[in-house]
Amino acid sequence: MANKDHQTGSARKDWNLRAREDFRHAIMSTVKGEKGEEEFRRTGVEDANTIASFFKGRNMSDWRVLEYGCGVGRLMEALSRRFGKIHGIDISDEMVKLGRQRLQGSQFSFHVLENGDLPFPDGCFDLVYSMHVFQHMPKSSFRSIMPEIARVLKPDGLFLFHIMHPYTLRRKLQALFGVDQLSFRHLISVISKREQNKLETYRRRYYTHGQIEQILGYNGLRLINRVRLGPKRRYLWNLAEHA
Ligand SMILES: C[S@@+](CC[C@H](N)C(=O)[O-])C[C@H]1O[C@@H](n2cnc3c(N)ncnc32)[C@H](O)[C@@H]1O
Repeated sequence: MANKDHQTGSARKDWNLRAREDFRHAIMSTVKGEKGEEEFRRTGVEDANTIASFFKGRNMSDWRVLEYGCGVGRLMEALSRRFGKIHGIDISDEMVKLGRQRLQGSQFSFHVLENGDLPFPDGCFDLVYSMHVFQHMPKSSFRSIMPEIARVLKPDGLFLFHIMHPYTLRRKLQALFGVDQLSFRHLISVISKREQNKLETYRRRYYTHGQIEQILGYNGLRLINRVRLGPKRRYLWNLAEHA
């Protein structure tokens, strides 16, 4: 039986809390509150352009697309001019509720991830994309959702996802040794069993290139493109297809 721990633990609670506090800031840490709406949308357009740039020259207008970890639909809105129907799924029902309020129209469909299974038939999406999601979840959660993502992709479907590049030595070591955190403060809190003040989902997880390829390969996918973009080239974009 697949390990579906991404559905458990504090993930939904954390993200629901953030959605209620300030969803814009939870999604884009550079933006705050209602005043940040314009900037929030601008980042959506910018990131949507990045996503679309991976498919230059292709006719995407009839693609069936899924965003994994869609939040309130920041990217779905900006991508809707390019793709046909966009589905978005998220672990947070609060994010999904806000998304449904923000984006109305038959081209959008929001879903709450209920039990770790994607509520779609096999081989139904031309593209699954994900941004600012996998770095926030335990590595075991990323591994456990991957068979589902591979399952819902069409035989010639594509999977595009972003994670943070391990851009410092400490982060490289974190990735290499598979630990979620590597800091003196963390060590102290583990030894003293002290509560850490950070929510579980604030921590960033890092992966080596080899680990990403291994996870993809294990799910019958292979990497076809990898690019570092974004602020200080810290965003590692990976494009994969069925092997
Ligand atoms: C930083 S936000 C990014 C939202 C959206 N991708 C964007 O770029 O605008 C991360 C989103 O991932 C969702 N999320 C976190 N863990 C998840 C999981 N295990 N499965 C599905 N969604 C998850 C959160 O609820 C949140 O809406």
